[in-house]
Amino acid sequence: MKKQLVTLAVATVAAMPAFAQQQSVEVLHWWTSGGEAAALNVLKGNLEKQGVKWNDMPVAGGGGEAAMTAVRARVTASNPPTAVQMLGFDITDWGKQGAVTDLNALAAREGWDKTVPLALQKFSKYNGKWISAPVNIHSTNWIWANKEVLAKAGVKSEPKNFDEFIAAAEKVQQAGFIAIAHGGQPWQEATVFDSVVLSTGGIEYYKKAFIELDPKALKSETTEKVFHRMGQIRKLVDKDFSGRDWNVASGMVISGKAGFQIMGDWAKGEFVNAKQVPGKDFLCYRFPGTQGTVAFNSDQFVMFKLNDAEKSAAQLKLAAAIMEPGFQSAFNVVKGSAPARTDVSDAAFDDCGKKAIKDVAAANKANTLVGSIAHGHAVPASIKNAFYDVITRHFNGQIDDKKAVAELVAAAKN
Ligand code: BGC
Repeated sequence: MKKQLVTLAVATVAAMPAFAQQQSVEVLHWWTSGGEAAALNVLKGNLEKQGVKWNDMPVAGGGGEAAMTAVRARVTASNPPTAVQMLGFDITDWGKQGAVTDLNALAAREGWDKTVPLALQKFSKYNGKWISAPVNIHSTNWIWANKEVLAKAGVKSEPKNFDEFIAAAEKVQQAGFIAIAHGGQPWQEATVFDSVVLSTGGIEYYKKAFIELDPKALKSETTEKVFHRMGQIRKLVDKDFSGRDWNVASGMVISGKAGFQIMGDWAKGEFVNAKQVPGKDFLCYRFPGTQGTVAFNSDQFVMFKLNDAEKSAAQLKLAAAIMEPGFQSAFNVVKGSAPARTDVSDAAFDDCGKKAIKDVAAANKANTLVGSIAHGHAVPASIKNAFYDVITRHFNGQIDDKKAVAELVAAAKN
């Protein structure tokens, strides 16, 4: 009797059709703040509707430095995640190693070539083949401000250049508020640096010094001025900034403790998540002196090669879901970014989102859309991380402007 039951059970399992096994994806990402989690839920919900189970693998830390360390460990252990959020040069570096899934057939079928801006494709493709699905276009040269705090401090209009910004921030400080909410983490200092470089030297200097790594441009007085200005910003930050997470800094602007935050437009996700409305509760503007230019970073999803037919099928479902225009709108409305496709309507976006979309399109046309230094779209990770180190030590007063310039020149050789 017992034996019969066992035989029956074995026969039942063997007869189960293969599709009864639920498809799943394990997604490694660094979207751990409230706004980021809300955006991620849009993607998660989309896949779950298609019957694909979502296994979450969060590794906190903007810029993805910690996440990339986790990915390397998983790949070394021959256990890569299904899909990984990645930026810029990290994508093409993995492409070079041949570890990632070729998405070219799907991309060709769905016409990604025609709808994704070339500036993004540069990182989405390796050897001419699609290896990642871009979900958005973020940019770093933004300022987020609390409208009421600015009114109380008598800041009546948008600062148009760096000096006007410092004057406005000083007014906020004199009115008893924290002028600039900042989180003292290397990637956050580097994010501020993106804006200060663009504002101080302009687009040609940015490209020469930080994309082409021209030693003369890097060693110039302009770079010294950039560091001087980073020092000016440092004086307008509160004493408890060390180690603070970026979303906590956003929270200080949202709650009216601080006037400004210099941060990429993922910060808008925090304002939206707190039910704040642009123009009414908060203001968004390009970092003063960078109007007309955009320092971008695009979150993309890379699929690792897996020896499993069901998992590989789920990878393609995830990639297709990411690229779907309706999803790109729904996701980016919440995330704070612009869509990674040029054919998505801006109708559902708020004023800051509409501005982001317009700015990216205009910069793309005018050739003023440049990769973010801080977020892996200007130089590969080894140099980016060496830059982080110099920028942070300078911000913390460990080296002066001149020494920082010299160290930056050396870091570019990494
Ligand atoms: C990513 C954003 C993310 C931010 C903070 C950036 O590197 O591109 O998507 O919201 O880090 O975590």
